[in-house]
Amino acid sequence: MMSFVAKYITVHAVILGLLLPQAIPCNVTGVWRNELGSVLDIEVVGSELRGRYQSAVETAPGVTGPKQQAKLLGVTGNRGLQTSVAFSVLWEAGSCSSWVGQCFQLPDGMRVLKTLWMLRSVASCPADNWKSTRMGEDTFVFIS
Ligand SMILES: *[C@@H]1O[C@H](CO)[C@@H](O)[C@H](O)[C@H]1NC(C)=O
Repeated sequence: MMSFVAKYITVHAVILGLLLPQAIPCNVTGVWRNELGSVLDIEVVGSELRGRYQSAVETAPGVTGPKQQAKLLGVTGNRGLQTSVAFSVLWEAGSCSSWVGQCFQLPDGMRVLKTLWMLRSVASCPADNWKSTRMGEDTFVFIS
């Protein structure tokens, strides 16, 4: 009787173990690409995040930076497995962007960074303030 109960528990523990998602932390370090083809190259050091942002788009030629690249600075949370991120980029022409989001490690081994962003363009006078901030959504997929 005891051995039947023990076997029953063991079998169910094994099945449950196979079905539960593996606890792998979402590592933000690496190269990521979003739906527009913009490429994010990030290195995480402690809770800080540094790297380069290669933009696939710009509002006017040359405003992002040389080769449409600019430096990126941010922070990342390391409490829990799916890490939160916040990072910013200052573009060549003086506009700046910030993204906030979270890195998700998916059960199939894929990693995605789901973010919302805001882009601030420089308004020449207070009257133009209303039209100087854009916002949107970016999903980055881990490349390497
Ligand atoms: C994240 O990935 C990088 C690059 O593969 C690796 O060097 C680093 O050790 C990883 N960090 C953690 C916490 O696993």
